[in-house]
Amino acid sequence: MAKAGKNSLRILQVSDCHVSADAKASYRGQNADRNLKKLLPVMRAWDPDLVLLTGDVSEDASAASYARVAVMLGTIGSPILALPGNHDEPEVMQQHFRHGPWTGPFGKEWGEWLVVLLDSTEPGRISGSFSQQELERFDVLLRSSTARFIIVALHHQPVPVDARWIDRYALENAGAFFNFVGRDRRIRCVAWGHVHHDFREVRDGVTLLGAPSSVANSLPRTERFTLDLDGPSCRWLELSPDGTVETGVLRPKRRSRN
Ligand SMILES: [Fe+2]
Repeated sequence: MAKAGKNSLRILQVSDCHVSADAKASYRGQNADRNLKKLLPVMRAWDPDLVLLTGDVSEDASAASYARVAVMLGTIGSPILALPGNHDEPEVMQQHFRHGPWTGPFGKEWGEWLVVLLDSTEPGRISGSFSQQELERFDVLLRSSTARFIIVALHHQPVPVDARWIDRYALENAGAFFNFVGRDRRIRCVAWGHVHHDFREVRDGVTLLGAPSSVANSLPRTERFTLDLDGPSCRWLELSPDGTVETGVLRPKRRSRN
């Protein structure tokens, strides 16, 4: 794990928790509550400045599932910014996570950085897209900030991640999104969930990141979801005041046998 840079913005990106109203429910053969709980000690020890929750927090959009995730992540003791995924119901979710893109793009400045959250979901659809109005409001938000660097978060992947099972359900108008991203050279990172594995690519100076899931991950570059036996994980990010992006993955500590 990288050592915290002085004055870096430290973010834990938690994604695709898929918690259900029934705490005993199975998700791809795993238990969502148990796997998220396994991550909490390492997340607390990492001590982030903020937690970024990038969608599919719930499997069934139930109030009970959001309430339990809010309590669990609340034990980290850091502000939580949240955005919805295709499994979520924004009207219900925002009752438990106050800070997010509930009435349009959401932005919050920390030091040199602006953190922007976008809602890429479309009611009733697994794929994502942005309306022209949403992109224009995104542009207005960027212009209104004097931050030196920007990270943008959304649920759906705007680039293929080489996994057919989920690339069928990507951000459909990624070209329009990247047109707006490309206009502002302060954008140094775009981070999403949805893909259930650690994906990283740098394109035109922008770090593109797909987050692993806190319940079940797939091995990368697979046709079908293929359970990664390394278990649940989440992404850490250190955004330095000079615009550098460092990142990696946190996993639960393995129990010693003796
Ligand atoms: Fe999703």
